[in-house]
Amino acid sequence: MYSLVIFGASGDLTSRKLIPALYNLFRKKRLPQPIHLIGFSRTPMKDEVWRKKLLETTRQFTGNLFCEQTWSAFAPCLRYHAGDIGNADSFTSLAAFLNQLENGGQSGATTSHRLFYLSTSPQFYAVAAEQLGVAGLSSESAERSCRIVIEKPFGTDLESAQKLNEIIHRRFDESQIYRIDHYLGKETVNNVLVLRFANAIFEPIWNRNYIQNIQITANEDILIGRRAPYYETAGILRDMFQNHLLQILSFVTMEPPARFDAKAIRDEKVKVLQSIRPMTEEETLQNSVRGQYRNYRDESGVAKDSQTATYGAIRLFIDNWRWKDVPIFLRSGKGMACRSTQIVINFRQPPHSMFSDKASNLPLHGNRLLLQLQPAEGIQVHFMTKIPDTEMKIRPSELNFNFKNSFSGEMPDSYERLLLDAIHGDASLFARSDEVEAAWRIIDPIQKTWDGGRMQDPEFYETGSTGPVQADRWIESFGQHWFDLCPIV
Ligand code: BG6
Repeated sequence: MYSLVIFGASGDLTSRKLIPALYNLFRKKRLPQPIHLIGFSRTPMKDEVWRKKLLETTRQFTGNLFCEQTWSAFAPCLRYHAGDIGNADSFTSLAAFLNQLENGGQSGATTSHRLFYLSTSPQFYAVAAEQLGVAGLSSESAERSCRIVIEKPFGTDLESAQKLNEIIHRRFDESQIYRIDHYLGKETVNNVLVLRFANAIFEPIWNRNYIQNIQITANEDILIGRRAPYYETAGILRDMFQNHLLQILSFVTMEPPARFDAKAIRDEKVKVLQSIRPMTEEETLQNSVRGQYRNYRDESGVAKDSQTATYGAIRLFIDNWRWKDVPIFLRSGKGMACRSTQIVINFRQPPHSMFSDKASNLPLHGNRLLLQLQPAEGIQVHFMTKIPDTEMKIRPSELNFNFKNSFSGEMPDSYERLLLDAIHGDASLFARSDEVEAAWRIIDPIQKTWDGGRMQDPEFYETGSTGPVQADRWIESFGQHWFDLCPIV
């Protein structure tokens, strides 16, 4: 018997992501049975009312994958339990409700797997974990597993993350805690591991001897809109770098784990994150730029003199044998020309060119491996070719691989994978406490410099552009260029 309790049942994430993902898992017959999906939120509501609300949103967010008949079979799994996270009685009654569902009012032990999903505002994470513990809902036994899934953001800096870890650890063992970063559920992010560790041709060149620099970009065309109150306190570093970009970076740069299991993978991720050189204030001034899209301050809820960055770029170094002195550029922006999340591996140029004084029209380029994570998921290899019917003119060409052309079916949403893994107790794609803290150790000093008096104000950039002009000059000062590509979907 499986039970998944969603705290924050009336929130956006629940209707936009969680329930559609659960519906899709059910449709694909991947959800274990029997399962109860229980919404927990303050507004009293009958099961039927909650189901009706979710019917509308699920139809909207699953698009042409929606099927009335499948929904009719799925809807009975949805139950609703009204409660207040601040109120201990709500948790006592939740415990009774779960017992009732699992045992049907009968005494005697049934094997049960309970998953508590915190999809609330972050200020409730600590209190929810505490209340679950007080109500006995965090204790495991031979017949019962209990896990807690925690949405991002996990803390707002190192200190708050440590504090939150400490509070949650009072009630839950680390093995019961699943910190979500939805980027880790993306197929293309997982494919980074497959590309690196299921192929023999890449690993020998995946190091400082062959790689000149790495660029990881997560650009979005959307603006902040209704999220301004949250975004004003977060900014691009906390919102995108501490979690998503550093998670991608750790997949790209970690050492090969011996096995695909939670401990082996997370040990390697932590090791590489801990090898990233923390930046002093002076280094941050040299190694980062920030920007703000021009009309950001007109968004409702944004201060007229807001210094919050909607664009950021940083240059990092990993102090280990594999990556010593290889610059790693991370960049993310809102209000950009297009949505594009990509990893660019720029290889070194050939050490010597016998073509340079021939009739070649271009200087030699280093090879480039481009992993387009989204949209237009695919991989490109850039290499030099001879232009036919010329003496020895050469120019860059591409080899293309596109998931859509090679595989049928829709790319699943990342929440499908992550929810299923959490239900089955596989934590490989969730962040461990030391990992989250290591990431904050990298971001904290940068954020501190950005918030201090010495950093230049964020430069305005036009929405629909490629970001602040200063960011181009900045990377050029290191002899590099951004690789910008608006993918064709
Ligand atoms: C979220 C951030 O974690 O990720 C958002 O809070 C961002 O600001 C979103 O837009 C991007 O996710 P995706 O899956 O659309 O790339």
